[in-house]
This record gives sequence, C-alpha cells and structure tokens, in this order.
Amino acid sequence: MTQFDVVIIGAGAAGLMCAAQAGYRGRSVLVLDHAKQAAKKILISGGGRCNFTNLNASPANYLCHNPHFVKSALARFSQHDFIELVERHGVAYHEKTLGQLFCDDSAKDIVQLLLTECDWADVKVQLRTEVTDISKTAEGFRLSANGEAIGCQSLVVACGGLSMPKLCATPLGYQIAEQFGHTILPTRAGLVPFTLDKPDLAQYAELAGVSLSVTAESADGTRFKEALLFTHRGLSGPAILQISSFWQPGEDVTLNLLADTDLPATLRQWAEKQPNQTLKTALARLLPKRLVEVLGQQGKIDGDLPLRALDAGRMQKLLASLSQYPVHPNGTEGYRTAEVTLGGVDTDELSSKTMESKKVPGLYFIGEVMDVTGWLGGYNFQWAWSCGWAAGQAV
Ligand code: FDA
Repeated sequence: MTQFDVVIIGAGAAGLMCAAQAGYRGRSVLVLDHAKQAAKKILISGGGRCNFTNLNASPANYLCHNPHFVKSALARFSQHDFIELVERHGVAYHEKTLGQLFCDDSAKDIVQLLLTECDWADVKVQLRTEVTDISKTAEGFRLSANGEAIGCQSLVVACGGLSMPKLCATPLGYQIAEQFGHTILPTRAGLVPFTLDKPDLAQYAELAGVSLSVTAESADGTRFKEALLFTHRGLSGPAILQISSFWQPGEDVTLNLLADTDLPATLRQWAEKQPNQTLKTALARLLPKRLVEVLGQQGKIDGDLPLRALDAGRMQKLLASLSQYPVHPNGTEGYRTAEVTLGGVDTDELSSKTMESKKVPGLYFIGEVMDVTGWLGGYNFQWAWSCGWAAGQAV
C-alpha cells in the first residue's frame, strides 16, 4: 500500500489550494481527480476569464446554516491574500464591476498558478482516477485509487457539489460524508436561471435576448440590483442568478423594472415639455421598447395615455406596476446550468478553523461540498481559497 500524509479527493479550486499549503508544510500530498483535466470549473468560469475573487468579500456574502462559520477562514486567508498570490505569479487582472476581479487574459492563468504552487510544494496530482472503497484505519484512512490501495493520515474531501455534471461533478463528497455519519443539509441548485410556465413564456417570447437593470427581491426581502436577461426558457442574468439562491419553490420574485430612475420626477418633467407624448413613448426612453409593448399587453400600463393625464392616482398605480412587478418562476434550470449547489455537509459538524470533521478526526471537508454558498461575483472561489488554505495549515 502506498502511503501519503494527506490525500485530497478533487483537484478543483479548494483541493489544489489546500494541497499546496500542506505540501509547503512538508507533508506528502496526493491529489486525486477522476477528470482528465484539473480544475475544469475554473477554466470555464467567468466566461473563460475566471472571476477569482471579490474586493468586497465578507461573511455577509455567504449563505450557510451557521452564518458565523465562514468568518475565521475568510479572515485568515482573505481576498487580499489571494490577490497578493495572483500578483506574485504575474497574472494580470482587472475589476469588472462591483469589486469582481477577473483575469485580463484567461482563466488558465489561475489554474496554472495553482498547479505551479502544487509543483513547488511537491504535491502529486493524479488525474483520471476513480476513488472507491474508503475506510477508516487505526492510522488514518485507506482508499482505492484506480484499484491501487493508498493509505493516508488525513483525508480531504474536496470534490465539489452537484452543479454541472458535464464538468465532472459527482455526489461522491456527500456519499463520503454520509458514510462517516455526517449530516447533509438538503441540496439544491443555486445561482441558476429561472424557468417559467408556458403562458408566461409565451408572453415574454418576443423578449428573448432583451436585458435591463432591475432590482430583484425574494419573498424573504433579499434584494439584488443587477441586470436581468429574458431567455427562451425564462429569466437569467446576474440579478436572477443572485436571487435564485434565496428563492423557494412556489414563491414569486418581485422586480423593480425602473431601479435606476425616479419615475414620478422624470415623467412630470417630461409632461411639462411634451404633455401630449404617450406613456408608451415616454417609457420606451427608460425601458426596452419590446418590454413596454409587453407591459401594455399585460395591462400593466395604459400606453396610449398622454403624459398630461397622469394625475397623482394614476402615477401611483403606474409606479406600483413597474416597481413591484411580480414574476412566478415554475422552477430553475437545475444542476445542468447552476453555478453552485446550495446546502451540503452541515458546518455544525466541522471545525471553522481547520474544516476538520468533529466526528472523525483526520477527515476534512472543503469547498462547495460544504453547506457554504457565496453570492455571484467571485465569492465562491474566495471561499474555496479561504477554506482550502485553512485546511492546508492543519492536515
Ligand atoms: P470544484 O468543482 O472546483 O472541484 C471539484 C473537483 O472534484 C473537480 O475537479 C472534479 O473533477 C472532482 N471530482 C468530482 N467528483 C469526483 C469523483 N467522484 N472522484 C474524483 N474526483 C471528483 N465562482 C466564482 O467565484 N467565480 C466565477 O467566475 C465562477 N464561475 C462559475 C462558472 C460556472 C459555469 C460554474 C459551474 C461555477 C462557477 N463558479 C464561479 C463557482 C465555482 O466554480 C465553485 O464554487 C468552485 O469551483 C468550488 O470549488 P471546489 O474546489 O469545491 O469544487
């Protein structure tokens, strides 16, 4: 049996970060992954440019059954620590919007950074390897990698969540957690487009490809002001992906379609100059024209009304129609297109300092397999770096 100090299952964001840290501490480290390539999700992330962190990352940007859990790791290895690493490797980057940092060239730069770190730390990364038959031994753990027996003191489960099976996602992490008696909080797709019922889809059919800035609000009052995109299947865009993580089946999402405009002030000003202009012509200066047409068809606006006829009552009604516009998703596109998996290994059973299991000493869970999910915008990778780093100091 080949022996290592540390075996990490999953050569993704969290696994590679953890591996390099453990290797630098002088531990012998083996990373196993069934994929042909390491870190496939990093490679396609951020439209191929990887939104690798967020300047504003803080515990408030994470969903977790225990909101305090993320504090320690985020503080010990913050976005500034990762940015320092990126700069040390000479990777050029820029802020796109809302603190989101992207590579100037390619997400490959981040994967190369991680593999270089692993190389310098003497980590062995073994791809195309199926991991089976994991068991606890007196010294640590024993597992089978492509049929070969391997022993280790510390076993790190870093095999991600269920989102995007095409990119090699599997439920192995949850299965290992269950095998060792861990609680799995219910999993579901997050950061995912909404689907709509056929009649709703038919109403929005003309709008596929149209995007606009909105505030999207879930039933629990969480709000995001970002872009919405109408698609052939339903609704997408950053505002929708963000709110999808807070949405529960059956609930409405409320949109403010004029998130950037003081509607009454703007229309009153325009009414003074062009009192006979119709409401639909005026609104088409603020919203995509095709959307204004749909709003008219839905009876949300009286498009032919001249601006001069907008008295206080009508203005109030119009404002309510456009700022509290309900949409009723019938579901999401699911794991096929979701960026993340909500839920996962219950953090109450893990150390927030080291990510070690409180039930089975020597067993660690890091990354998306845990019940920690970040907002859209580089927060998920930051969690992978922070918890991977924290576990890397302990394994
Ligand atoms: P990750 O998925 O990175 O790695 C898990 C590894 O385990 C994979 O290499 C996989 O092959 C391996 N594995 C799985 N099952 C296995 C098995 N049975 N045996 C062996 N190995 C196995 N986040 C962000 O912050 N910024 C962004 O720009 C994006 N963009 C983005 C785009 C898309 C399309 C997706 C799907 C996701 C994102 N994300 C993101 C989210 C981000 O990719 C995600 O949060 C991290 O990759 C999670 O890191 P992990 O290391 O936990 O899992």
